[in-house]
Amino acid sequence: MKFLAITKRKRRMGLLSLTIALVVLSLVQCATKHQVTSPPVAVTDKGLKDYYKDYFPIGVAVSGASLHGPDSALIVREFNSVTPENDMKMGPIHPSENVYNWKNADAIVDFAVRHHIKIRGHNLCWHNQEAAWMFKSPNGEPVSKELLLQRLKDHIFAVAGRYKGKIYAWDVVNEAIDDGDDTTQIYRKSNWYNICNGIDFIEAAFRYAHKADPNAKLYYNDYNSEHPVKREKTYKMLKKLIADHVPIDGVGMQAHWKLNDPSPEELRKALDEITSLGLKVQITEMDITIRLPKPPPSPGTMPSVAATTPDPGYTPELEDKQTAQYKMAFDIFRQYKKFITSVTFWNVSDRSSWLDMRGGGLMGGAAAGANTLRMVRKAYPLLFDENRQRKKAYWAVVNF
Ligand code: G3I
Repeated sequence: MKFLAITKRKRRMGLLSLTIALVVLSLVQCATKHQVTSPPVAVTDKGLKDYYKDYFPIGVAVSGASLHGPDSALIVREFNSVTPENDMKMGPIHPSENVYNWKNADAIVDFAVRHHIKIRGHNLCWHNQEAAWMFKSPNGEPVSKELLLQRLKDHIFAVAGRYKGKIYAWDVVNEAIDDGDDTTQIYRKSNWYNICNGIDFIEAAFRYAHKADPNAKLYYNDYNSEHPVKREKTYKMLKKLIADHVPIDGVGMQAHWKLNDPSPEELRKALDEITSLGLKVQITEMDITIRLPKPPPSPGTMPSVAATTPDPGYTPELEDKQTAQYKMAFDIFRQYKKFITSVTFWNVSDRSSWLDMRGGGLMGGAAAGANTLRMVRKAYPLLFDENRQRKKAYWAVVNF
């Protein structure tokens, strides 16, 4: 009897081990499958997109790296729109004539589609991160205007065509307006402008994009559009595009802002002016650096002493100022909900912002330059801190 009982127990133990082994095996298989198919991240909490569901989609700029791990969970919880930060730009996606790097851009599109997140395309024509090969003809001479526009067309048909129906809005032309104070010099003297001897490339880019994806909303995207001189230039350009029947739906205001810039008056003026033309606005690249330009060293101070002054970092005072600036901006955005069709943040959290490598945002104004500093000076510009936790500014934006 005792022997029988032991045998039964052994058999039960054997069955149990087999069951456990099978369960473990299927879990391992599941995990492997998960790595391959990456199932949707579970949504557990109310996020920015939910607070703003009666206003506009809330987006974020992403890279391939943010599609995995904690960033991806945060993105799915908080946002219902994404913009590829770099992966659809001309240089990265189309590095030479017959070569397209679709991998990263496809991964972002797949992620967004799987999570029912809208996608803004960024961008189809820019002077920065450009595809340098486009400006040279096959014999190494500067390219002709005709060939350049043909290449632009091929590029736009390939990229906007590939994501047709998935990307609902494109930044068609980026930052084509000149930064100087001379209001008669409206356009940036880029390769595009110089080779075309004017702005035909802008008009052409919009027409090609409209042909490639007639349902996509088409935007002109720029920074500092709230500053009076640039506002005036932007207005002039938009009037011309409209007079020429260019298929443009709206303006992307990048919103790389500072604690004291823009003022509410400047922001309202810019919104009023753009929307008076019957155009929509998307806030496309929002962040608010805590860095303010340093006052020049007082007379008698050795530059070396000024340079070694310790960086106070993200002080409570700066945090309060940033919170107030975010609150001001979103109060106005909500008032303009008829015209503002999305608000997108540029990067996910203060853990990593493009501004950190650019003096916290003080190098060369608000815009991108090719230069980066080796020293990191953090800008703390977003609604989530370095541990991806919601900041005071977050609560100021959602409590209304
Ligand atoms: O991918 C290369 C990598 O291969 C190389 O090893 C590394 C070394 O520096 O550089 C990597 O490229 C960097 C790229 O970001 C991807 O990380 C470039 O150097 C760097 O200049 C580039 O910066 C981007 C910048 O545009 C370029 O102008 C920023 O991430 C991106 O946030 C920024 O985005 C722009 C918008 O498109 C337009 N509006 C302004 C905004 C901020 O500048």
